[in-house]
Amino acid sequence: MRRLPRFLLVPVIALAFAAPAMAWGPEGHAMIADIAQAHLDPAAAAQVRKLLALEGDTHLDQVSSWADAIRRDQPQTGPWHYVDIPLADRHYHAARDCKDSDCVVARIPYFAHILADRSASPARRLEALKWVVHLVGDIHQPLHAEDDHDKGGNDVKLDYFGRHTNLHRMWDSAVIEHALHVHVNRDYTFDHQVMRDRARKLDADITPAERLKWAPQSRDLHKDAVRWADGSHALARGVAYADLPPASKRTHGWSKRYQAEAWPVIKQRLQKAGVRLAAVLNQTLG
Ligand code: ADE
Ligand code: ZN
Ligand code: ZN
Repeated sequence: MRRLPRFLLVPVIALAFAAPAMAWGPEGHAMIADIAQAHLDPAAAAQVRKLLALEGDTHLDQVSSWADAIRRDQPQTGPWHYVDIPLADRHYHAARDCKDSDCVVARIPYFAHILADRSASPARRLEALKWVVHLVGDIHQPLHAEDDHDKGGNDVKLDYFGRHTNLHRMWDSAVIEHALHVHVNRDYTFDHQVMRDRARKLDADITPAERLKWAPQSRDLHKDAVRWADGSHALARGVAYADLPPASKRTHGWSKRYQAEAWPVIKQRLQKAGVRLAAVLNQTLG
C-alpha cells in the first residue's frame, strides 16, 4: 500500500498504556466515537463542535483516548475505567464492586451530569465530554466488567496468533486488529481515515431494529450503566473465559477458532457502545 502523507497520521498524544491494559485500544475508542458522532442530533452536534473547538479538535475520535493518556499523571482515575464484578457472580453490586463511586458504572452518570450543566465552565464540560466518550466505550468491553483475581484478564498470559499477550489485551485490541486489518503504531498514532472508514462499515451493519433495541431504556443513566456492565459481564463469563482452552493449550493452534467466536461479540459491543454514546450525548446536550 502507498505510504500515507504524514499529516493523516494524527497523534493520539503519547498514550500511557502502561501495563496492565486500561481500555479498549485507541482503535476501539475511535470507532465508537465515530459511530456516535454520525448519529448526533443537530443541537448535540453543535455543542460537541463548540466544546471540541476549545482545544482545536473537530472529531470525537480525537479525544476518545484522552482518559488513557492522562492516567499516568492521575493514577487515582485508573479504577474509573472498569468495574471488577467477580467472574463467579452474575450481577453488579454497588456496595461490593463500586466503593466510593470509584468505578465506570458510577463515573458515567457523574461526568454526564457535569456535561449537562450549562453553568459549569466550558473547560470543565469539555473534560466531562472526554470522559463520557471514553467510559461509555470501556463499559462495553466485556473484560472491563469482571475480575477473576487476574486484573480483568491482564494476568492471563497467552500467545495469540503467534504473539505474547494477555486475555485483556486480546479483547481491547488484538481481536479487532485481526478482524479489521487495522494497526496502531508503537507511539499510539494511527490512521484516522482508515479507522473512520471501518467505523462507517460497522455503523452501516446496524439494523434499525437493533438501533431501537439498544438505545437506553430509561432516563436514568445510572440504571442503564448497570445494565451495560451486567451485559459485558455476561459476555466475559459466557465467551471470553468460557471459550479459552486450558492453560497448557494457549500457545498455538487455538487463535483462529477463538477469533471466530470473539469477533462477532466484540463487533456488536463496539456497535452498541456507539449507538448508546450517541443517545447519551443527545439526551445530555439536546
Ligand atoms: N484492573 C483491575 N481490573 C481491571 C479490569 N477489569 N479492567 C482493566 N483493568 C483492570
Ligand atoms: Zn479506558
Ligand atoms: Zn482494557
